[in-house]
Amino acid sequence: MAGQLTNRGYWLSSFSEPGKTIDLPVPKASSGSVVVEVLATLVLPYLAQIHQGGVQQANLMLPLVPNANCIGRIIEVGPDATLLKTGDLVWADSTIVGRDDHTVVIVQGHLGGLGERGRTLMQGEWRDGSFQKYQKVPLESCHLLNADRLVKDLGYNLLELTTIILYTVAGGAILEMANLQAGQTIVIGPATGSFSGAAVELALLCGANVIAIGRTEKTLITLKEKLGSPKRLKYAVMTGDVDADAAAILRLTPDGKGADVFNDWTPGWIEKPVFLPAGLKTLKAWGKIILSGAAWGSADIPYAMSIHNNWQVIARWCCTRGTLTRVLDLINQGLLEVGKSTGGEFTTFEQVEDVERAKEHAAANGRFKNYTVLLPNGPI
Ligand SMILES: NC(=O)c1ccc[n+]([C@@H]2O[C@H](COP(=O)([O-])OP(=O)(O)OC[C@H]3O[C@@H](n4cnc5c(N)ncnc54)[C@H](OP(=O)(O)O)[C@@H]3O)[C@@H](O)[C@H]2O)c1
Repeated sequence: MAGQLTNRGYWLSSFSEPGKTIDLPVPKASSGSVVVEVLATLVLPYLAQIHQGGVQQANLMLPLVPNANCIGRIIEVGPDATLLKTGDLVWADSTIVGRDDHTVVIVQGHLGGLGERGRTLMQGEWRDGSFQKYQKVPLESCHLLNADRLVKDLGYNLLELTTIILYTVAGGAILEMANLQAGQTIVIGPATGSFSGAAVELALLCGANVIAIGRTEKTLITLKEKLGSPKRLKYAVMTGDVDADAAAILRLTPDGKGADVFNDWTPGWIEKPVFLPAGLKTLKAWGKIILSGAAWGSADIPYAMSIHNNWQVIARWCCTRGTLTRVLDLINQGLLEVGKSTGGEFTTFEQVEDVERAKEHAAANGRFKNYTVLLPNGPI
């Protein structure tokens, strides 16, 4: 089948010029890989910034076909596939772990990891991402989706499932590292982004008290309203006055006793974790500080306070395979609802020629529950 197809993709070769749409070979599946028809892929709000070289720590190496993750339909499997077959619907996750060294990690088409060996993965076999019609992905990165359950029983349009990435990454922080329990209190900030908002949703699902913090009251109100104004979700607007901000957070914690977890999601164009100083002043003894954002500078953590409080400082990029599977199970069981039924609004762009417009749209409009999706093979 693959022989009759033609591929086109968005080719980015410079940080100072827009990419071009070009013809590409249809990839071939070899051992340990799968080729998928890219049905839908999420376009993140800050993608244009990365493509313009504005987020150095992304370590994106050019040239390549960019973008991470997709909902795909398998068109070819390598000879060592034991479960997956042609025609299967999959979540193609773009976290690539070195097969001979699990400490080498990149995100296919999106982030270059660290060092020379990251470069080998980024500019080698697993270079090209999902801004193309057909993509080659590692066999182990493809997670079978139960299309009957998701589409027929739960009523999802496949494009809504592109948001899975937000929940798997948030799962790395909330399910895996925080291991959040019912009745615990977590402060999340900034909380109104695509990933951080998903962290808020997962924390609520765990039964935690959630205090969402941010600089903008309007977006915090939207966050709360979109989630149906649950009682366990409170918010505080940060002013930059650390003591006043800490007091505002503390007032929202049960009995004013403080938080068990502070989870930071500072965006990549900011030097330091914006709300960490205030958040730390509200953290209980034995509390956890989970860094999930992309600040380009340092996180200042007071040494003596950390020691005396037995705080754990944890950084987390992406999530384990176990967490990914858990998130997919939660969605499949209907326990975690994503997409339109929970206030998600989707704007679609329906050909690879639309990538520039899709990136611009995401940059201008992307925020919690406002998603931009590219459908490289047309409407689904
Ligand atoms: N750990 C991981 O594996 C992982 C994976 C993916 C992404 N990330 C990182 O997580 C970061 C956050 O992503 P996201 O999707 O939650 O955010 P996003 O959708 O890019 O939204 C930006 C967020 O940052 C806030 N913000 C922007 N400028 C700010 C400023 N000057 N001061 C305070 N707050 C500001 C916004 O709040 P307003 O509502 O006030 O505008 C909003 O909450 C990204 O930069 C990304 O690099 C980490």
